[in-house]
Amino acid sequence: MASNVIVVMSPKGGVGKTTVSVNLAAALATMGKRVLIIDANLDTPHVAIYYGFVGYKNSLEDVLNGRVPINEAIYKTGNPNLHILPSRVFKNKGDGNAQYKIINLFHHVGRITNDYDFVVLDSKPSAGLDFVKMMKNATTLIVSMPEIASMIEAKKLNEESIAAGVGVIGIVLNRVNKKISGHMSDSEVSRVVEARNVWKIPEDMNVFEALKKGIPIVWQNPKSPASKAFLELARDLTGWR
Ligand SMILES: Nc1ncnc2c1ncn2[C@@H]1O[C@H](COP(=O)(O)OP(=O)(O)OP(=O)(O)O)[C@@H](O)[C@H]1O
Ligand SMILES: [Mg+2]
Repeated sequence: MASNVIVVMSPKGGVGKTTVSVNLAAALATMGKRVLIIDANLDTPHVAIYYGFVGYKNSLEDVLNGRVPINEAIYKTGNPNLHILPSRVFKNKGDGNAQYKIINLFHHVGRITNDYDFVVLDSKPSAGLDFVKMMKNATTLIVSMPEIASMIEAKKLNEESIAAGVGVIGIVLNRVNKKISGHMSDSEVSRVVEARNVWKIPEDMNVFEALKKGIPIVWQNPKSPASKAFLELARDLTGWR
């Protein structure tokens, strides 16, 4: 079966793209889907850290620079359904100014999509839609926090994606905390951005515990509030497809 490519995006940094990517991929794998997660954030790549995954020889940088074919940079994880294509947290000496041709990612991904049900790509803030537009079956999943600046950027990305012909799965509102009075209400959110689907992930201190252990929270603590919400998101995505 050809895979669905989900690009997790947000113009703003630090809103939870990696947390969402890592847990969505882990949840889909738990549900029996064959999943590849790609760390397409070459600037601040943290996917490997979030899985406690160390000691890999090849990375996305090597694939983009033509040093290795994509299958030589894909690794197994603790769950047989989940594979990871990491980026290098600490770049090799001399890689500092290298121009990684992320635009060509679509070409590499196109070669392996038949091996997976889902390919989840984490991205850097303001990644731009260029490589997404070229990727077959690619859709964006926009992450935002429920505060006005982040929501306005999410709205802009939503509109830009639609104008570019890129499907938007919906918006993930992350770190929702009703006790924070500055957080936007549901009606305020829907006034700012019109999205087909909105998922809410609660602010959950267990997320930090899981991160410290290098295990996605959906595996480390599946009953925690954030895990339940991530599993719900994954369930919705598998239900559609
Ligand atoms: N639902 C949550 N509850 C509590 N903490 C969270 C939650 N989601 C994310 N965090 C924390 O927020 C911080 C930023 O999350 P994350 O690294 O996923 O953001 P990001 O958008 O990927 O950042 P960057 O733009 O640098 O790539 C991390 O410390 C993470 O543990
Ligand atoms: Mg990140």
